[in-house]
Amino acid sequence: MNYSIFQSPRDILYGQDTVNLVGEKAIKFGKKVMIITGKHSSKKTGALDKVLDSLKKNNLDFVVFNDIESDPSANTVRKGVEVAGENGIDIIVALGGGSALDASKAISMVASNGGDIVDYEDNIPHKEGIPIIAVPTTAGTGSEVSKFSIITDTDRKIKMLIANDLLIPKVAILDPKLTLMMPPSVTAATGMDAFTHAIEAYISKASQRTSDLYAIKAIELISRNLAKAVLKGDDLEARENMMVGQMYAGLAFTNSSTALVHSMSRPLGAYYGVPHGLANALLLPEVMKFNRAACADRFKAIAAAMGENIHGKSTREISYMTIDTIKNVFLETGLPTKLKEVGVDESNFENMAEDAIKSRTTLLNPRKPTVEQLIEIYKTIY
Ligand SMILES: [Fe+2]
Repeated sequence: MNYSIFQSPRDILYGQDTVNLVGEKAIKFGKKVMIITGKHSSKKTGALDKVLDSLKKNNLDFVVFNDIESDPSANTVRKGVEVAGENGIDIIVALGGGSALDASKAISMVASNGGDIVDYEDNIPHKEGIPIIAVPTTAGTGSEVSKFSIITDTDRKIKMLIANDLLIPKVAILDPKLTLMMPPSVTAATGMDAFTHAIEAYISKASQRTSDLYAIKAIELISRNLAKAVLKGDDLEARENMMVGQMYAGLAFTNSSTALVHSMSRPLGAYYGVPHGLANALLLPEVMKFNRAACADRFKAIAAAMGENIHGKSTREISYMTIDTIKNVFLETGLPTKLKEVGVDESNFENMAEDAIKSRTTLLNPRKPTVEQLIEIYKTIY
């Protein structure tokens, strides 16, 4: 039987000040809340206080687990599982960027299903996790609506991609005001991550009609608002458009897939600690050049969504134009453009290419690469 399925959180709330509704949503799941967040930023920006106020107003008990580092490790997940177990947690509020959200999903799953997080890479858990209300404070990962969690296994030097629809948060709350304090470099990198999600979801072999709708609208919103949000952080309209755009991108890729950019960016994170969004940004234009001939038809809608006039032009012309426009969106962010600028050296290109080729997202890329071609791409952007 050939069919598609579109999955999403039960509720997606978006709009200014929606963070104040966390308590009202949480109370439906129980009494004991675990807030999972990073060490500093949600405190500094006031996001944590807003969440706490809302929980207090609804007479909920809570513990704050603020040990989440960027690129959360298996050890952090283990600590979080312990805290959840000791406190008999009913509901998790995941507050922060992709790291806090991904760690929350992993903690929720292991707390309910037992075992160790490293076993979850191949084994699909079967039981619902602790329900999650995800409150992102960056506009990029789409983790609040996705079925993925990326956890770093520092022993094996790999980023584990854990995928399961049980990981989709029950509620996503997207308040664009929480992103106003994001510094330009983080706005740029997380925004480019979302842009990559949208494009890859659309050209992936797993794309489907419903995910396409979200992907194209995400490409439109992100390509037209990312530079504005980077240059003028208090532009609330641009922030709101980015927040919605990255959520659409999240819905698109969680129901389709990402592709080769994500396969190649994960090793850059695992070997050199390059932040996920920045790694994607560096790779995106070159990987799209590699993919061009295999999905030139799909590039037409991408070009149109980015505002290009495609009338009267050949498919080939449009496909080259699409790559240029994607590159411009990237250049406008002011992010570094070469791997050597972000602490990467050439010694691991072969290992990284070997890791990337094994990734599931490589199988779903429109063009099948060889290890040599991947090494070549790393070299081109070095
Ligand atoms: Fe991503």
